[in-house]
Amino acid sequence: MEWPLNFVVCLFIILLSPALLLLLHRRKSSRKRLPPGPPGWPIFGNMFDLGAMPHRTLAGLRPKYGDVIWLRMGATKTMAILSAKAATEFFKHHDLSFAERTVTETMRAHDYNHGSLALAPYGPYWRVLRRLVTVDMVVNKRINETAPIRRKCVDDLLLWIEEEARKLEAPRGLHVARFVFLMTFNLLGNLMLSRDLWDPQSKEGSEFFAAVMKLMEWSGHANMADYFPWLRRLDPQGLRRNMERDLGKAMEIASRFVKERVKDRQVGGGEKIRKDFLDVLLEFEGNGKDEPAKISDRDLNIFILEIFLAGSETTSSTIEWALSELLCNPESMIKVKAELARVVGPNRDVEDSDIDSLSYLQAIVKETLRLHPPIPFLVPRRAMQDTNFMGFHIPNNTKVLVNAWAIGRDPDAWDDPSSFKPERFLGADCDYKGQHYELIPFGAGRRMCAGVPLAHRVLNLVLGSLLHKFDWEFDGNVTRETMDTRDKLGIVVRKYESLMVVPKKCVA
Ligand code: HEM
Ligand SMILES: *[C@@H]1O[C@H](CO)[C@@H](O)[C@H](O)[C@H]1NC(C)=O
Ligand SMILES: *[C@@H]1O[C@H](CO)[C@@H](O)[C@H](O)[C@H]1NC(C)=O
Ligand SMILES: *[C@@H]1O[C@H](CO)[C@@H](O)[C@H](O)[C@H]1NC(C)=O
Repeated sequence: MEWPLNFVVCLFIILLSPALLLLLHRRKSSRKRLPPGPPGWPIFGNMFDLGAMPHRTLAGLRPKYGDVIWLRMGATKTMAILSAKAATEFFKHHDLSFAERTVTETMRAHDYNHGSLALAPYGPYWRVLRRLVTVDMVVNKRINETAPIRRKCVDDLLLWIEEEARKLEAPRGLHVARFVFLMTFNLLGNLMLSRDLWDPQSKEGSEFFAAVMKLMEWSGHANMADYFPWLRRLDPQGLRRNMERDLGKAMEIASRFVKERVKDRQVGGGEKIRKDFLDVLLEFEGNGKDEPAKISDRDLNIFILEIFLAGSETTSSTIEWALSELLCNPESMIKVKAELARVVGPNRDVEDSDIDSLSYLQAIVKETLRLHPPIPFLVPRRAMQDTNFMGFHIPNNTKVLVNAWAIGRDPDAWDDPSSFKPERFLGADCDYKGQHYELIPFGAGRRMCAGVPLAHRVLNLVLGSLLHKFDWEFDGNVTRETMDTRDKLGIVVRKYESLMVVPKKCVA
């Protein structure tokens, strides 16, 4: 949430804006037992109080204001939840009252929000899409069928890293998160469309990849227009315009993929062995009642894009942090290596079916997500009605930030919360599947992440394979004492300084 220079221009516009009066009027009328919160500036409210790492800043406000705090961000009302206890109350008893999403201005480009599952209004369209993802894409039965695809993509990843490592000069490391990102991108490409999308040989694939990278950039910027709705038409930072351009491009490419498939299906002939997710979407037929009869071409393109946006950066950020934590905590590294040696052994690769036996590896993934949830505020919810929450009056349309980062470090819920200790999960009944509100990197409740079963497999398989195949070292002069542990917030939080590491093939 750092504000660019052209912000000064906005300031000028706002001060002249007649909407100011409206705002002052609104402030007066909404004084009804709101949660406590830091006093804000006139007009801007708390917009400048949060700094570049708002998840950390807000966590720091808890001792002073409590578990639930109120923020005014420009003209928008915001509630932030900072403790495991408040999160439990929120998801257990008020999930439905807060089942809507807030939609940012960039996400309104090309009406993206209307076709999107993550941003769709809570209603029949959302229910249909959600069912398609959870039942036809990531449900356990399907997920077993696609194990060979995951294995193939991970094999590619290991090969890329090996090749790159051969080219490296002595102390220089490689940027491992980038490789994982490309791998996830191809993995989702294969699950959805049966094709590698990041392929130096494929022009369409590279164009699509480039456009999606841009989308992530635009949607990660803090945008004045989100806080002052009357700035929307002006688009002071140009984010909406950039988004229109690049989203248009990505949708155009996605639509080519879809058209090709529709043609193939009409020609028939080449009997496909496996239905991919695009087939499922194309075959969808509504129930004739409240559901749409079929998914429109436009919504299809958006939906395809969305899976890439939801799955790729989150996965690669998690793997980068897991490796960073392991390099800083060599005892854990030794333990997980030993577990892999025992369960998998030197003569074969890690398989999906090993994951259940790799409890220490799973504990590492959980511990990483506890300390470094890639989406620290989850995807913001919004109140659907005036709600009484923990004794406070929360008005309709209030935006809700659930600070999963703060909750993972809540001293009331965790012993020694800032240490990396995977052991805490061994034998403990604590998972990230939405039942344990102190660990919610995927959220919880009705709008919890729809990709959890897939993410669970991919994270464990990729991390397990990277650790089984290579020994890892920091590059150059980085040591575990000097490693940069800061993070930065874009569309997801990732390491501030990319982890550069040197892989050495295990000689076991
Ligand atoms: C490490 C990996 C991932 C993390 C940390 C993550 C995290 C999240 C979070 C925090 C939410 C919002 C939950 C809430 O509001 O309570 C979410 C929503 C969502 N995620 Fe994920 N996700 C991951 C991977 C994936 C993958 C691989 C997919 C694709 C299959 C996916 C698809 C979705 C969808 C469709 C939603 C919107 C659900 C809705 O609004 O109903 N995610 N994710
Ligand atoms: C899927 O595979 C796992 C092991 O990889 C196995 O435990 C489970 O029973 C399988 N499920 C189905 C529905 O085939
Ligand atoms: C909440 O606000 C939305 C949009 O501003 C409105 O459509 C809806 O009817 C409101 N809900 C209630 C219960 O007042
Ligand atoms: C090591 O540190 C020195 C000075 O601190 C710096 O100039 C050099 O570039 C670093 N080497 C690597 C490989 O990062």
